[in-house]
Amino acid sequence: MMSRNKWWVAVVFTGAWWSVSLMAGAQVSVDNSSNSVLIVAEKESSTSVARKKAEAHAETMDEPEFGWDPLDIIGSKHDLSALNVRAGAKAMEGVAYDDYGYACVYCHVPPEVDTKSKEPQQIAGWNRIRSDMRDYTLYSSKTFNSTARIPNEVTLLCLSCHDGTMAVDQVVNTPRAWKSGAKMTLHMKINSGTDLDHCGLCHDGFTAHSLGNKHIGTDMRRNHPVSIRYPGLGAGASDSLQLAFHSPVDDFGFANGVRLFNGFVECASCHNVHEPDKVKFLRVKPEYLCITCHSY
Ligand code: HEC
Ligand code: HEC
Ligand code: HEC
Ligand code: HEC
Ligand code: HEC
Repeated sequence: MMSRNKWWVAVVFTGAWWSVSLMAGAQVSVDNSSNSVLIVAEKESSTSVARKKAEAHAETMDEPEFGWDPLDIIGSKHDLSALNVRAGAKAMEGVAYDDYGYACVYCHVPPEVDTKSKEPQQIAGWNRIRSDMRDYTLYSSKTFNSTARIPNEVTLLCLSCHDGTMAVDQVVNTPRAWKSGAKMTLHMKINSGTDLDHCGLCHDGFTAHSLGNKHIGTDMRRNHPVSIRYPGLGAGASDSLQLAFHSPVDDFGFANGVRLFNGFVECASCHNVHEPDKVKFLRVKPEYLCITCHSY
């Protein structure tokens, strides 16, 4: 299978193969399968391959609401492909996580997979399984009866990495091109724990940046309420609570991009994981975020 821009050079020679690697920008891979012949190939860089796969995946999907570019996620903290390379010195090579080749499949079901087939523990609509956590301790509204012990799907997606109980590479369907032979030995979780199970092994703030505060945990009461119906839509909320919230455009949310999911507030109401240029992936600047919904 040859794609448009791909070209291969096979050079057969006996000595000093490394001199070829000095050719401008050449990425050299050496095939040692035959003792007498070395094949040096210039390939597309892994990042351009990852982009093409992501573009192909995006074409199978609906246009996003409020016009953002899903491909912006490439190279961001939510792009779990090629982390090794981006970390420099291949810091995470051979450990930590499986590299499925491109960003989207860590969350979205690969396009080649029949969406009708489902794993029992799959989070509906996403390429991830529910975290081992059966129950989260959720915020309960004193004035509004919408407490749920199990968050909605799009929040379960975030928690499948951010509650720190599951490996970040634990997906339901691996992409077709990925070979299970490329499986890594360790599968780590977003957790500041320092044993072999946790990204915190290196991400302790000394060896690499700390990811302890990216670990949300399973007690949601410390965080903003999620999987809670938005009172500003009326229906079911007391008058005083309705007054405390602005009216959205519709069930999808607000014109500035703050989103509702079927009328519910979820993690992804405030964060858009595809927009890394925004601080903490927030949909709007922090100073406008709260007042989008809260009127006082
Ligand atoms: C970290 C998880 C995550 C990754 C990785 C991810 N997405 Fe998303 N994606 C989401 C969430 C959550 C939503 C729903 C939020 C929204 O629509 O604002 C979404 C929504 C979308 C949408 C809007 C349409 C729809 O079906 O809801 C498109 C298009 C999309 N993603 C494309 C991509 C592409 C292409 C990639 C890879 C380049 C990608 N995503 C990677 C989490 C992710
Ligand atoms: C596939 C695993 C995965 C999923 C699913 C996921 N994240 Fe993340 N998230 C990460 C990783 C890895 C980081 C980077 C941690 C680091 O490097 O410090 C991160 C970082 C973040 C950050 C911090 C960004 C920053 O600049 O410091 C936010 C905010 C965030 N995620 C929100 C979300 C939300 C909201 C969702 C659901 C819509 C989500 N994540 C789903 C893996 C995931
Ligand atoms: C063997 C040590 C090691 C382990 C284990 C490790 N990392 Fe890293 N990681 C590094 C180093 C070193 C860097 C580069 C320095 C930095 O960014 O702080 C890095 C950088 C990163 C970056 C930033 C790269 C970028 O392009 O922005 C992310 C995101 C990341 N690691 C996520 C993870 C996640 C998620 C895990 C667990 C699944 C993990 N790391 C496990 C060593 C490690
Ligand atoms: C009402 C809006 C809102 C909701 C809902 C929300 N967040 Fe956030 N989140 C924020 C804001 C604002 C920040 C930045 C806080 C700061 O920098 O001090 C943040 C920060 C984060 C961070 C980064 C923490 C850090 O210090 O780097 C992560 C990870 C995160 N959120 C994940 C989530 C997850 C997962 C959910 C759902 C369980 C969620 N958020 C729900 C507004 C929200
Ligand atoms: C997407 C809409 C939305 C956004 C944005 C939002 N909130 Fe909320 N907030 C809600 C809803 C809905 C509730 C739950 C109301 C209820 O039923 O009690 C809530 C509840 C709260 C509560 C708990 C109130 C109580 O009675 O205990 C606090 C505190 C809060 N929000 C602060 C913030 C802050 C700070 C921000 C900005 C970082 C923010 N909110 C952004 C919708 C939002």
